[in-house]
Amino acid sequence: MANTNIRLSLALDACSSEIPLSGALIVNAKNDADYSKLGQATCIQWFKPTCDRLMEIGLKSLQNFTTINSFALVEITRSKPQSLGLIAKAFDALSENSILMIDGNKTDGIESHLKTLRKLFKIEGIISKSHGKIFWIKKATRPQILDQWVQGLEPVKIEKDYKTKAGIFSANHIDKASSLLLKCLPKHLGGIGADLGAGWGYLSNELLKTNDKIKSICLVEADWNALHCAKLNINDSRAKFEWTDATQHKNVKYDFIIMNPPFHQTRKAEPDIGKSFIIQASELLTPKGQLWMVANRQLAYETTLDTCFTSVNSITETPQFKVINALRPKKQIFR
Ligand SMILES: C[S@@+](CC[C@H](N)C(=O)[O-])C[C@H]1O[C@@H](n2cnc3c(N)ncnc32)[C@H](O)[C@@H]1O
Repeated sequence: MANTNIRLSLALDACSSEIPLSGALIVNAKNDADYSKLGQATCIQWFKPTCDRLMEIGLKSLQNFTTINSFALVEITRSKPQSLGLIAKAFDALSENSILMIDGNKTDGIESHLKTLRKLFKIEGIISKSHGKIFWIKKATRPQILDQWVQGLEPVKIEKDYKTKAGIFSANHIDKASSLLLKCLPKHLGGIGADLGAGWGYLSNELLKTNDKIKSICLVEADWNALHCAKLNINDSRAKFEWTDATQHKNVKYDFIIMNPPFHQTRKAEPDIGKSFIIQASELLTPKGQLWMVANRQLAYETTLDTCFTSVNSITETPQFKVINALRPKKQIFR
């Protein structure tokens, strides 16, 4: 991050006279970036652990655009329609003549955004550094295509009438791993359950359709946009929704947990995230509670599972995925 901070810092210095002391907006704000030159900024962020860290360092963190601002910075996401939608929303949330900066890495498509915006606006400045670019425009006449970009942020229907939004996990289709887990889940799951990293709600919704003995299922999800879709997708009063970091979810005990845990937050695989989900599941389950999970086959979760559960059973394996049922959690303490 240090080098991308230099990119931002150079851009902010280049237009320092136009940066307000307060009233800046940072869209998709990162938790490890240095925004100190932007004073009392408001952030837009949907990923709960990042929001928590932004708030810890004193930045206001919202999920919707609500204010008119005198400067905006958009950190692009990996999704092109989501990034374009956010650029359009940031443009609309600016007062006339204010600066809109767009920052991102080459691998996330910043060059394609520069090409697109160049056709519509005068580019006031560009800085290329650290495998990425930051460029800026001034708010002037609004091109009509921005309506289409804003529309790209709205929920759309995919297979089986499920609704998803650009930028969330598996936005275009039902995830293959989750689909495999669903086929392996027993029809007799009952009591109080949780779906850790519930995404847009596929697993919980399908499970509720076939298991009448379930009293409730809590969809625990860190991505506000994904959880918003889950609320649209599930019409069953037994479903509860929690926008939270699953590894911080506390003070409840579950009879069963289902999960297709996240395995990366950056582009590379980070098995530690899945391991922390397994530890958390063992702590959230009752002594007779059971965990049903699916994972990419190459991710080595077995040692963690054996440390946390008395009985660990492989239910099925495909060339890509494995489904595991773990029983009798060893740890029974709340963190
Ligand atoms: C592999 S996806 C599975 C999504 C969903 N269960 C499905 O079947 O489509 C993992 C999900 O975990 C969410 N996630 C990532 N980190 C999280 C955290 N710390 N707490 C809760 N959810 C998290 C991601 O946003 C993503 O939706």
